[in-house]
Order: sequence, then C-alpha cells, then structure tokens
Amino acid sequence: MTVALAFDIYGTLIDPHGVVDELEKHLGEGAQAFSNIWRDKQLEYTWRRGLMGRYENFPVCTRQALDYTDSLMQTHLDESMKAALMQVYRVLPAYDDVPESLQALKDAGFRLFGFSNGVADAVQGLLEHAGIDSFFDGVVSVDALQTFKPDPKVYRHVVEVMGSDIENCWLVSSNGFDVIGAVSSGMKAAWLKRFSGVVFDPWGIEPTLEIHGLDELPQKIPS
Ligand code: LAC
Repeated sequence: MTVALAFDIYGTLIDPHGVVDELEKHLGEGAQAFSNIWRDKQLEYTWRRGLMGRYENFPVCTRQALDYTDSLMQTHLDESMKAALMQVYRVLPAYDDVPESLQALKDAGFRLFGFSNGVADAVQGLLEHAGIDSFFDGVVSVDALQTFKPDPKVYRHVVEVMGSDIENCWLVSSNGFDVIGAVSSGMKAAWLKRFSGVVFDPWGIEPTLEIHGLDELPQKIPS
C-alpha cells in the first residue's frame, strides 16, 4: 500500500503573503502588517463559519477578511484595488523548496494530493501557475463538505479520497491547527516549521514529525 501525502496549500506550498508586493503599491511599509491581519482574519472566519454551520466558501471568507482589515487599518482601498488583491490571491507563488521536494517525493513513490480550505478550481489554478500541478494525483477541497479544517469530517474525507489505509495517510502542513486536526482524526501529520519563531499549540497533541523544510520529507517518512 503506497503512502499518500495530503499537502496543505496556503502557508505550506503556496505563500499567502505573496500579496505583499501588491499591497506595498498602496500602503508602503504597512503592507506586511496588513497581510498578517488579513490572513489571521481569513482563518478566523473559516473557524467561526464552521462552528456556526454558516458555510460560505474560502474566497468569500478571504474577501470579507480583506474588507475587515481595510476598515480596521483605515487604509481606504477602493473596489478596484480590492479586486486586484483578490486576483493576486489566485496567482500566489509557491515557496522556493516546493518543486524540487515534490519531484523527490514523486520519484520515491509517494502519492501526492493537495488538501485545502480553498475551492478546488482556485487550488488547481495555483498549482498550475506554480508549475507543480503534474506532481499531484488529486486536489481535495473542504468545499465538497461545506465546512472547514479542522472539522474531523474533512480529514475523514481526505483519507477516503486518497484510498490508502489511514496509517499510510499523512497530512503535511505548516498550520498547527491543521496538524492537530489531522492527528486528532487518526492521520499521521508532519508539521512544517517554516519560520523559526513559530510555536506549536501546547494541546498535548503532537505532530508525528516536525520538519524545517520539505526536502526532509523523503528521508523521514517511510514510503
Ligand atoms: C488551507 C488553509 C489552512 O490551505 O491555509 O487549507
């Protein structure tokens, strides 16, 4: 039975702060702070919508988080600027270590899936834009279930789609809440600590594996 790896997308393979260049055109030095609040609020909206059973898809959460951040920071972005930012969200870049690491995993015989809160066509578009879509056996979106990570339903769903026994199903994610969700649902999970200052939530639910770059995966996960 081959090992199947489900890769989180935003923050793990694709850099959500790829919007900073576009933000800098309008905001100058405040761009990174804006991007940080936007991303945090986007995730908060997914969690709250999941809890309340008031699903709206990830692009809606992203757009509403953009409106919130604009109001909070009093940046007065007009409609065309917001539309341009949402457009950049569809062509965000992959992190530098991604193409080579996916190639190495493919060569080692792993089956690879994208697994995201994002809607399937947006995720597929990002993978194509980054030139990495051919490495994947499939894209799994929470949109099919009308809920968000870390609802246990979405991890059961990705295991089912990947078609391997659960002990051969791994999540790879830089998002701690995602790793905890996967482990709590019986999957294995590698936490990618992309930046040195990041702290893993002290819930007593640990990642199966901690890595500092995707290039460590082929050695550390038995295929
Ligand atoms: C995703 C979010 C967690 O791609 O960033 O699912």
